[in-house]
Amino acid sequence: MNEHKKLTNEVGAPVADNENSITAGPRGPVVMQDVWLMEKMAHFNREVIPERRMHAKGWGAYGKFTVTHDISQYTRAKVLQPGTETELFLRFSTVAGERGAADCERDIRGVAVKFYTEEGNWDLVGNNTPTFFIRDVHNFSDLNRAVKRDPHTGRRSAQNNWDFWTLLPECFHQITVVMSDRGIPASFRNMHFFGEHTFSFYNDKNQRFWCKFHFKTKQGIKNFSNEEAARINGMDREYHGKDLFDAIERGDFPKWTMYVQIMTEEQAKNHYENPFDITKIWRHAEYPLIEVGELELNRNPENYFAEVEQSAFTPAHVVPGIGFSPDRFLQGRLFSYGDAQRYRLGVNYNHIPVNRAKVEVNEYHRDGAMRADGNYGGAPAYSPNSYGAWTAQPEVMEPPLDLEGAMYRYDPKDDPTDDCFRAGGDLWRVLTEEKKQILIENTAGDMASVTENIKYRHAVHCYLADPEYGERFTEAAGLCMDKVKELSKLDNNGLIQATLSSTMQSNHD
Ligand code: HEM
Repeated sequence: MNEHKKLTNEVGAPVADNENSITAGPRGPVVMQDVWLMEKMAHFNREVIPERRMHAKGWGAYGKFTVTHDISQYTRAKVLQPGTETELFLRFSTVAGERGAADCERDIRGVAVKFYTEEGNWDLVGNNTPTFFIRDVHNFSDLNRAVKRDPHTGRRSAQNNWDFWTLLPECFHQITVVMSDRGIPASFRNMHFFGEHTFSFYNDKNQRFWCKFHFKTKQGIKNFSNEEAARINGMDREYHGKDLFDAIERGDFPKWTMYVQIMTEEQAKNHYENPFDITKIWRHAEYPLIEVGELELNRNPENYFAEVEQSAFTPAHVVPGIGFSPDRFLQGRLFSYGDAQRYRLGVNYNHIPVNRAKVEVNEYHRDGAMRADGNYGGAPAYSPNSYGAWTAQPEVMEPPLDLEGAMYRYDPKDDPTDDCFRAGGDLWRVLTEEKKQILIENTAGDMASVTENIKYRHAVHCYLADPEYGERFTEAAGLCMDKVKELSKLDNNGLIQATLSSTMQSNHD
């Protein structure tokens, strides 16, 4: 707190009066020479920065990650060695809503963690669901346009949302999760989160393993119904942010246990479906969860804008021992985040304290807007050079990865092992009767304003996942079961053709 600081202008000169403009006479106009007034107004006009294109509404906290178990046989990353404790910053977010949106909306939740490791920053940028809607980067901007505002009305549109989701059958599993009771967590503290993608580990013998990251809440899972969420949104749009902040203030530090799933390169080659497809899960019975450590949040930021709004995470930030995978969706993300942040915050965004690594940084980038440090003084600006500056560190080189096949635009749906409905069906079959009913009611309610052709498309997907799922959704949505069964005999393209608005009578005509 700065209670006793005296007011100055932007270059430290004292300000004499911060209430009364300089006017020409006691009742006259303001004069240009009130330069403090000009400075104040000009700064105010520039206080807004672009919000994140998605995940705009969010809350953050600092904490630590402690490794309790030994997974050094899989990774040499120092942050994952037994006993290591690492400081971190974590930001929770919703996806579709803008910066001013209410917290308790039905949506997935983003969970981005920045581990300030002794080998540089590692960012794990995940969600509270184990898989994602889509699997090709090409579809990502379209997904966000479909869930965000309609260009004609300026409003969110269930019609756009469901039209897009149902035209890409790989969305089905994630739709089932979002429409289930888990679609509105009661708090950030009461949800699990996941890295979702397949990443890689490599150990000190340079052996590679594929891995997935899971964080299980120690607070237990709790969710809100639509009715509870509507009531809370009406009272407090910042409910989840307040819950997190208050828990940390009162010393009730939320905790998650980190687990990994491990798949060998050999297992991946023989897996029954593409292990690098983000819309697929690895079954726990086949690839059990291996405990790694505990993540705790224990300190609130001092300033929301400086620390939460200006935080910037990217899956491209990994440390030795942790790497990427052939997941085409992950590959796209490796470009997207840094690019977004150079636009949103500027090219030197990693100099902002919340983003800055705790170790010495020697990336030898020069200049750029808002360069506020010594800019590497007179050190050589080029490499190689004859002065031994900026030498690379080959000891951290990843093992080579064999790839196979010709370069082409492959459609995953042409892969005979691809099944977009298996995981959603498996999920349906493990839900209790009460949760099945919630899922059906949420889905039918969410689709209430959507045209019938799109409802049929979704009903067919539910039916293909599990006949009971299909029958119950069909009934709740007031559709004809015979028609759903008939449509379910078509292949994906046939179903799309048969359910275009022009080919099917809509209930909104
Ligand atoms: C190709 C697919 C994707 C692209 C191109 C993409 C792109 C982006 C971009 C541009 C941002 C805003 C970054 C910023 O302004 O700082 C963002 C935020 C975010 N994305 Fe993605 N995203 C993709 C998929 C995913 C997936 C699969 C996940 C979860 C596993 C995810 C989790 C997040 C989270 C948590 C944030 C908010 C980060 C924060 O709190 O600052 N995204 N994404």
